[in-house]
Amino acid sequence: MAVSGAVLVLYLFAHMIGNLKIFVGQADFDHYAHWLRELGAPVLPHQWGLWMVRIGLTVAVIAHIVSATILAVRARKARPVKYAHRPKVQGSYAARTMRWGGVIILLFVIYHILDLTTGTVHPDFAHGEVYNNVVADFAPERWYVTLFYVVSVVAVGFHLRHGIWSAVRTLGQQSARGQRIARAVALAVSVVLTAGFLSVPFAVMTGLVG
Ligand code: HEM
Repeated sequence: MAVSGAVLVLYLFAHMIGNLKIFVGQADFDHYAHWLRELGAPVLPHQWGLWMVRIGLTVAVIAHIVSATILAVRARKARPVKYAHRPKVQGSYAARTMRWGGVIILLFVIYHILDLTTGTVHPDFAHGEVYNNVVADFAPERWYVTLFYVVSVVAVGFHLRHGIWSAVRTLGQQSARGQRIARAVALAVSVVLTAGFLSVPFAVMTGLVG
């Protein structure tokens, strides 16, 4: 769970930083998208590097979902009789939001790929014109798409906050100081990623990018 999650967090950082290139300008942003397709050149042929990243990510997502299922089954076996009074402790609340948060994020990623990678559900998609595709996506009349993106990115933020905290507990030391550090790191990473991702739709909405 922790290792596959760490791979996905690294991808999110790379993706968020790449997205911020939209503030540099249209030519730079489109050039960056073009560069992604030449990742590993000249050693690797066109799109091979990108496909290696895609395969790595798919493996990480599957490993993450499989480990979550194994952990959930193990937790249920450890407590076959349900609690008569289920106290509203942090643990059960976090577990519930992790499961539903994970489902929302998975649905978002599927929609997001059909939207901005393949253009299947995008109203005005053009291959290679990534800047225009993003600007058209967050147009004022498509406020519901922007809202879906904002809700999903916030869901990613909450998921990361609890996920990173658990991962550091799994992989790191569990002293009181270690836990304080884990909590602070989890909060900082999730706030930075959430703010970075949200800055793009907000910039388009306010006309800063367009
Ligand atoms: C507002 C926030 C976001 C924006 C503006 C955005 C923008 C984009 C764009 C423009 C692409 C296509 C890039 C290209 O074809 O060169 C893309 C691809 C992708 N994004 Fe995002 N993204 C956002 C948030 C996210 C989040 C939160 C996740 C994951 C939870 C994510 C995961 C992906 C994935 C998996 C791809 C497909 C990469 C591929 O296979 O080519 N994105 N994104």
